[in-house]
Amino acid sequence: MKQIAVAVVIIVAIISLIVTAFTINQVYREEQRLTEDLHYRSTLLADNLKGAIEPNFSTKSSSDLQQLVNKLDAEERFVGMNIYDNKGEMIATSSSLPADLPEASKIAEESMDADKANGTFVKLNQEKMYLLAAPLHDQESIVGALMIAQNASYIDTRLTEIWRNNLLRLVIQASLISLAALLLLRWIIYEPIHNLVEFSKSARSGELNENAQNLPSSLFFRPLVKEISNIRRSLLEARVTASEEAKLRLEKLDSPWTAQRLTEFIKDVLKDRTIVVVSNREPYIHTKNGRKISYFVPASGMVTAIEPVMEACGGIWVAHGSGDADKMMVDEHNKLRVPPDEPKYTLRRIWLTDKEEAGYYYGFSNEGLWPLCHIAHVRPTFRKEDWEEYKKVNGKFAQAVLSEIKLLEKPIIIVQDFHLSLLPRMIKNSRPDATVALFWHIPWPNPESFSVCPWKKEILDGILGSDLIGFHTQLHCNNFIETVGRELESLIDFEQFNITRHNHISSIKPFPISIAFPNHINNQDANFDPNKILKSLNIKTKYIGLGIDRFDYTKGILERLKGIEIFLQKNPMYIGQFTFLQIAAPSRSRIERYQQFVREVENEVERINKLLKKNGWKPIVLIKKHHNQEEVYKFYKLADVCLVTSLHDGMNLVAKEFIASRDDEKGVLILSQFTGASRELKDALIVNPYNGEQTAEALKIALEMPPTEQTKRMRRLRETIKNYNIYRWSAELLKTIVNLEQ
Ligand code: G6P
Repeated sequence: MKQIAVAVVIIVAIISLIVTAFTINQVYREEQRLTEDLHYRSTLLADNLKGAIEPNFSTKSSSDLQQLVNKLDAEERFVGMNIYDNKGEMIATSSSLPADLPEASKIAEESMDADKANGTFVKLNQEKMYLLAAPLHDQESIVGALMIAQNASYIDTRLTEIWRNNLLRLVIQASLISLAALLLLRWIIYEPIHNLVEFSKSARSGELNENAQNLPSSLFFRPLVKEISNIRRSLLEARVTASEEAKLRLEKLDSPWTAQRLTEFIKDVLKDRTIVVVSNREPYIHTKNGRKISYFVPASGMVTAIEPVMEACGGIWVAHGSGDADKMMVDEHNKLRVPPDEPKYTLRRIWLTDKEEAGYYYGFSNEGLWPLCHIAHVRPTFRKEDWEEYKKVNGKFAQAVLSEIKLLEKPIIIVQDFHLSLLPRMIKNSRPDATVALFWHIPWPNPESFSVCPWKKEILDGILGSDLIGFHTQLHCNNFIETVGRELESLIDFEQFNITRHNHISSIKPFPISIAFPNHINNQDANFDPNKILKSLNIKTKYIGLGIDRFDYTKGILERLKGIEIFLQKNPMYIGQFTFLQIAAPSRSRIERYQQFVREVENEVERINKLLKKNGWKPIVLIKKHHNQEEVYKFYKLADVCLVTSLHDGMNLVAKEFIASRDDEKGVLILSQFTGASRELKDALIVNPYNGEQTAEALKIALEMPPTEQTKRMRRLRETIKNYNIYRWSAELLKTIVNLEQ
């Protein structure tokens, strides 16, 4: 609609320009015509008057002449006259004219000098007058001049009238043409194109319903409609073929998993049962900037992993609506289809009050459970009020999930992470027929560490409402089983790795999470130029080291910086040659410990830069900003080495994304031994982040690694991720769920 408005404005502007140009021309010609006519008529009048004045002019006294002038009354356009002698002195004048009229004397003199009539326009009492002077003769010689004044204001009236008429015509024309253009553009162009776009979109998203009744039937669009219909048909055929192929591949389990294969798998094995995913963090956050609403994908390993699964399976994702424009985007059931640009599944948003968010999310989840599970030397804080909110909000999520599965038979619910540990029990109590899985994205600590939590029994009991409990690694599964063994009365089967409590069996299994690979993000920008990005950041260097994290104390950023300092001190030839770029997405910034951590990192960056900077070069560049996936992939691609030095991390998907981005098979990954990822990514340089000397040594090895060795390692790393990507992860999880049901 905006385009139509612009088109109408342009049309109106063009019409106005044309009409204005025509009117200027018309007014100019009319003015000329009226002036010539007035001049002609004034000349005729002057000639008549001259007949009465000229005979015996020299013998007539001024009073004779004045009497003659007085006899002529002002009538119609004639206003009055002056008579001048041959010296230019006024000897008679009409009472209707002012005594002092300099233009009159001037043209009278000029007419005598040139011996011909001469006219000009003047303003008199706010009215336009035409003055015409003609020489008076006695025999052959010039004896004086006669000046007559005519009212010329009718010329201005006429010209104003032309402007007014043309303007009125313009307004009428412009309105009619705008209306016609509006209707034409809307019905003939906008709506048919809109229908075509919807038609093509439905083909792209795989909807098979023929929605051709709205397609334009006009001759004008017929070739385009035909072409788009053909493309659509080819697309649907290709999709069916791909689906068949994927079905065939299902049997060959060693072939790589893709989104398509997962979709087929779900159709085949789950018989299209709806999958409901629940998490605290939502995959798309809508925000307001003035009147503009936009969205972004939050920095969260959980979102990175689960989003492509939902795109492939469809279903419903229930999550906290945390964006300030989130409410404006949902329907009356608090739902919207996402991804916003190409909807594939439903997002159901849950609203929390500030008090709930403060107690449940910031308090119990992130000041209690997060440090409890990560053991990164930040004391967990447990407050009774936070725990109360945590229980309440888990109940709120449970109600939303129960309403979503009300009409579903044997629904499958996959709960994500530590924010919702009480949810499995709550759902299972109301819907024993539902299959509930919980995936814990962060580490599970040893039983001693976990035992400090005042509500440990309630949390463990909540989790044990699940039929399946997944962790990234076997170690976390072991820790969990040991914790339950120590804290709750239950039967543990160490062979099958399951726990029986109140006659319900929960199976515990590792599912190392991954990313969508191969993915489309790499090919987004054909003009990718690393130098341009570095220039924009004012970085001039030979080697780039990269860290991309949420700004979180578990990520080992301070330890990483220490390693870099030691590296540069031990290897001064890299001074001026190596820059470390740390991108840190602001996270949980309302929590005091997080604010303090940001300050600690800033101070450390400043200290090291001050110590080692040289000739405009500095060793560390810190960017505190959220970047979208496309931007993040560009950073990965320009790095010689990527450092992931978490002090403790369930998996760490940054490590996997770095590998996924390197289709050039170059670059080295330095990886903390305390990440789940280090169990799989054996070709990374594995370090203990607490050991700065080791990180420094790994950096040197990375920067001096021959390209052939880099390629050899990167190829194997890429192969690992390709073989165990997120589609395989979810297929394994779902297969386990289905097997449990039998
Ligand atoms: C970790 C958690 C996720 C969480 C993410 C970002 O990866 O496992 O559940 O979404 O951190 O944290 P945030 O608090 O911003 O959701």
